[in-house]
Amino acid sequence: MLKGTFPVARFSSLKTPFYYYDMDLLARTLDELRAQMARYPDYRMHYAVKANFNPEILRLIASAGFGADCVSGGEVQAALDAGFAAKDIVFAGVGKADWEINLALEAGIGRFNVESLPELEVLDALAGARGAVAPVSLRVNPDIGAHTHANITTGLAENKFGIAYEMLEEVIRRALSLEHVAFKGLHFHIGSQILEMDDFVALCNRVNELSARLSRHGLPVGDINVGGGLGIQYQHPNHFPMADFAGYFATFKKHLAVKPGTPVHFELGRSIVAPCGSLICRVLYVKQGTSRQFAIIDGSMTELIRPALYKAYHRIENLSSDEPEEVYDVVGPVCESSDVFAKAVEIDRCHRGDFIAIRSAGAYGEAMASRYNLHTLPEAFFDWRR
Ligand code: LLP
Repeated sequence: MLKGTFPVARFSSLKTPFYYYDMDLLARTLDELRAQMARYPDYRMHYAVKANFNPEILRLIASAGFGADCVSGGEVQAALDAGFAAKDIVFAGVGKADWEINLALEAGIGRFNVESLPELEVLDALAGARGAVAPVSLRVNPDIGAHTHANITTGLAENKFGIAYEMLEEVIRRALSLEHVAFKGLHFHIGSQILEMDDFVALCNRVNELSARLSRHGLPVGDINVGGGLGIQYQHPNHFPMADFAGYFATFKKHLAVKPGTPVHFELGRSIVAPCGSLICRVLYVKQGTSRQFAIIDGSMTELIRPALYKAYHRIENLSSDEPEEVYDVVGPVCESSDVFAKAVEIDRCHRGDFIAIRSAGAYGEAMASRYNLHTLPEAFFDWRR
């Protein structure tokens, strides 16, 4: 079985499960992203902090010159602490609390992505109370489905996100009438782990249609934020360690109709950080059931909840064995039947103590870890060597 290269000898002194981050891969990914974006001077990237807010990861991404996309006061603070410039921070979320808005106003962030009329009015009042004017984009619910898991599609009319398509003019007019908000542009996001570029084409078509409609109504839009969502190849991390950034940007270049000089903002999360992370676990027991063989490992849904929550696939590799493959259900110790990483997967024969890598776990892995069953939160190991 083709496996990733890991410094396994250095793992024996570490407490498993832990997150392994290939910082060289992350640095190369950021270089590639920068190189691709250099071809489109109006494109701006705001890394979606929710995907991974480990301070070490954030610092590297901030130092590459990107902005940050945040969805809570905690994330805004983490982005500031990691060195992201306040002016390059955008702040979305359907339920921003007053303290979070105040923190962002105090910091002077670049954009509030406002998701409802009541939020707009609260923002105006809080900005007014400090004599400030808050730069605002309105998040539109584009009512577009994406070919991805139902729990991670966000752009349908039935989803809670954004302002309903047909109410937009009313909300823009309200924004223009308020003294302490400045209407700057529109924000969209259709979902996550999107591999079909046609989904992004559908988004572009929607944005074009909407911009034309707003112009006809005398409401020109300053800039556009198309959100994130680019997917990665979970099946083949060794063959495709990087997402298709070139194809992604080319799709927007071809299909998004904006006047030259109009800033286009992106909020990629997963595609930047997923490939560089693996959850490293050890085999505790190999157990023979009636009809199945279980590899019981010390990692669980508390460190990586994606398989349990979304039935997500993550490639699993045994780093300690080169013996012939056998078929296992790879499961964690948590008292939930959904605490399963994979059913009936072929991996090199397992023994107690073997190191197991659960790949492509750099996004929505550590960030979604919990202390359920009173587990401790996983530590991180950063590999800068190569
Ligand atoms: N912008 C907005 C407004 C978002 O809601 C999201 C993700 C992103 C950007 C970044 O999307 P990305 O480029 O990472 O696809 N926990 C789920 C994913 C939830 C995504 C939520 N929003 C998972 O593990 O698959």
